[in-house]
Amino acid sequence: MFEILSRQVLAQGSVIVNEIHAPRVAAKARPGQFVILRANERGERIPLTMADIDPERGSITILYQVVGRTTALLASLDKGQAVMDVLGPLGSPTDIRQVGTVICVGGGTGVAVLHPIARGFRRAGNTVISIIGARSRPLLIMEEKMRAISADLQVCTDDGSYGHHGFVTDLLERTLRTLGSGAALAVCIGPIPMMRACCRVSGDFGVPAYVSLNALMVDGTGMCGCCRVSVDGAIKFACVDGPEFDGHKVDFDALNTRLGAYREAEALSYSRFREMCCRDEAGR
Ligand code: NAD
Ligand code: FES
Repeated sequence: MFEILSRQVLAQGSVIVNEIHAPRVAAKARPGQFVILRANERGERIPLTMADIDPERGSITILYQVVGRTTALLASLDKGQAVMDVLGPLGSPTDIRQVGTVICVGGGTGVAVLHPIARGFRRAGNTVISIIGARSRPLLIMEEKMRAISADLQVCTDDGSYGHHGFVTDLLERTLRTLGSGAALAVCIGPIPMMRACCRVSGDFGVPAYVSLNALMVDGTGMCGCCRVSVDGAIKFACVDGPEFDGHKVDFDALNTRLGAYREAEALSYSRFREMCCRDEAGR
């Protein structure tokens, strides 16, 4: 069992941050890697990329939106309670090296995945320019943490309630225009339409882009084939070959289709879970 050391609620209650005691995972984990969690013995396995790794405290931090049965179950666990399984670290770490100026772009909860990667690039001696965006100000996460590791942090909201009024792609384009040939790499993490749009922009400027693919997963070790994605016309397994890939070569349409395959079943399972919780509440 893996104890929850702290539990924080962000973004008007829609996002939960858990610091979990998992010393063996924390000792080995590197930026870009993920874990597969199971809340209890009947819980389904879900992959979550680590938002922070602290080998000294022996902890990892995960951040997730409550979007279905499993995330609701995880969110119901309090500080001091425990998650049944934490399997990891899984996946290939980000290829972090000194390349010059790295633009780190995060959308919505993707900022949590981006944070240790951006920090890794900073520690490797790169100049990190970060761009983060959310639909509105209350949904913006980790602003101060991103500021602390960035030479420059630019913020935007879709509704204009904070920072630039518009998408992260506007700021990415502006930054690339300003830097000229000075940008070595863009790392873009968030919803699929955002990553696709960022790759289009970075491609226009001839700048390579990494993206992190949140594919469906079961075993997380390359055995089941559930996480297959198409990259440069070849089938790759996001759990072992990724989760990061060259964004200019990813087939985002195929990824989108696969991610939608179980949407109805997921919605049904979540509504049954909520009914069950309501019955339990009423019976108390
Ligand atoms: P969101 O939909 O609120 O978008 C966040 C920001 O991304 C927006 O504010 C905007 O700046 C940018 N964006 C969105 N669509 C865009 C477009 N078409 N063009 C340019 N920019 C665009 O984000 P959310 O609700 O936090 O996202 C949730 C989704 O992201 C979920 O589907 C989740 O699975 C996925 N996600 C992916 C990762 C990953 O590792 N790739 C990590 C976290 C979340
Ligand atoms: Fe099974 Fe990747 S999750 S092969």
